Amino acid sequence: MTLWHGRFSSEPSVELWEFTESLTFDKTLALDDITGSKAHLAGLERVGVLLPEEAATLHGALSLVEAEFLDSKFVFNERDEDIHTAIERRVTELAGDVGAKLHTARSRNDQVATDLKIFTRRELKIVAERILGLQQLLLDLSREAHDAYLPGYTHMQKAQPVLFGHHLMAHGWALARDFDRILATISRLNICPLGAGALGGSTVAIDPKFTSDLLGFRAPFENSLDAVSDRDFVAEALFDLALVGVHLSRIGEEIVLWSTEEFGFIRLSDSYSTGSSMLPQKKNPDIAELARGKTGRLIGHLAGFLATLKGLPLSYNRDLQEDKEPLFDALKQTTRSLLAVKGMLATASFDFSRMRKAADSPYLCAIDLAEFLVKQGHPFRKAHAIIGGIVRDSIERHVQMQELVEAHPLLGIEAARLLEPGESVRRRVTAGGSGIEAVALQRERYSEQLQQDQKRLDLIN
Ligand code: ARG
Repeated sequence: MTLWHGRFSSEPSVELWEFTESLTFDKTLALDDITGSKAHLAGLERVGVLLPEEAATLHGALSLVEAEFLDSKFVFNERDEDIHTAIERRVTELAGDVGAKLHTARSRNDQVATDLKIFTRRELKIVAERILGLQQLLLDLSREAHDAYLPGYTHMQKAQPVLFGHHLMAHGWALARDFDRILATISRLNICPLGAGALGGSTVAIDPKFTSDLLGFRAPFENSLDAVSDRDFVAEALFDLALVGVHLSRIGEEIVLWSTEEFGFIRLSDSYSTGSSMLPQKKNPDIAELARGKTGRLIGHLAGFLATLKGLPLSYNRDLQEDKEPLFDALKQTTRSLLAVKGMLATASFDFSRMRKAADSPYLCAIDLAEFLVKQGHPFRKAHAIIGGIVRDSIERHVQMQELVEAHPLLGIEAARLLEPGESVRRRVTAGGSGIEAVALQRERYSEQLQQDQKRLDLIN
């Protein structure tokens, strides 16, 4: 029997059932559905729709169903259309007639929106926690790197030496923004839809504020049509997760490059690499590649779901059932990716001497030479042209930069010292730049922000 059988003269067709059911995936919401139902029945009791003993019976039945799920003993029935139907059916089996009162002044429309918000709030918090974990690791690695430096690239061409610790923190700041964005998404979604009913509320005087408080939401809905139609929080979560994915993908791409023989900046631990089924010598950076590859899927989930939402009239439409699979998958892939990337980086060994060697080319100090001339009073454009000429000369005539700089009337021995290994990062002074002191200060600020962010996270219920 379906929930709506009263109005229908025939049973649903197999095709309808197979095409429209959502139990196969929305069973993920089982415990959150029970949480929502417990709050709803407390609300019904409060306004006298349920007698205290009826509410107690229903509460007991819901707790039994909860235990069945926790022990993986819940038995689904082939007529369970979705998780809400399944739980209501089982509660009624256990509680008897009073089970039929649970759905008073409630629709699956406000119910599913409430369940999904409770679920998303909790799962996004887990993602935020894992982001902080990876951010902390990047800070630790940055500290351990001391004054190690590597070539900084633009256009994938060697540009200037940068401290490795600075490079790591660059990824850390991107993750800090992801964290902030996820907390903002949680804050915005924290409005409780329960009580909106199918779309317009009901004639039963339930109190949405009461159930909103019970479920730990910031406030109840202002508009019942919006409450059951709103899936902004799903779209926002999908965007947040896709962007986390993009950031992990950029880290992944670097690890793939750095672990090549050609770069050789990093060696991955055996526990975080894979082998080849054919070529015995291979050790592959699969985590880094999948952190990169899975991001395509995350972007797809966002684009797909926005397309689902586009053009939907108010209020609830069955299209909205399409919110769950992308969201569940995006959360799963992102939480796993964050852990895997963290493990891979935590166990990798970095080859600082290979990094240094790759950065110890005098050409990477060309800007320092130009700035030497600027400090002598020459306009920057002129300095740029002079040093550019020396670089060209050095390449075309196969003469060491050192030699040309020493011999140049405007440069000489003092300027040539700027070409010595490590000199460039030691002299960098811009706040927020890649100089040794600036990076130490940056780490302090980053570490303070990490501690504050941890506190912000702890405040979310
Ligand atoms: N399984 C549905 C969903 O996920 C539950 C809401 C169904 N509501 C309805 N009026 N058919 O959206």
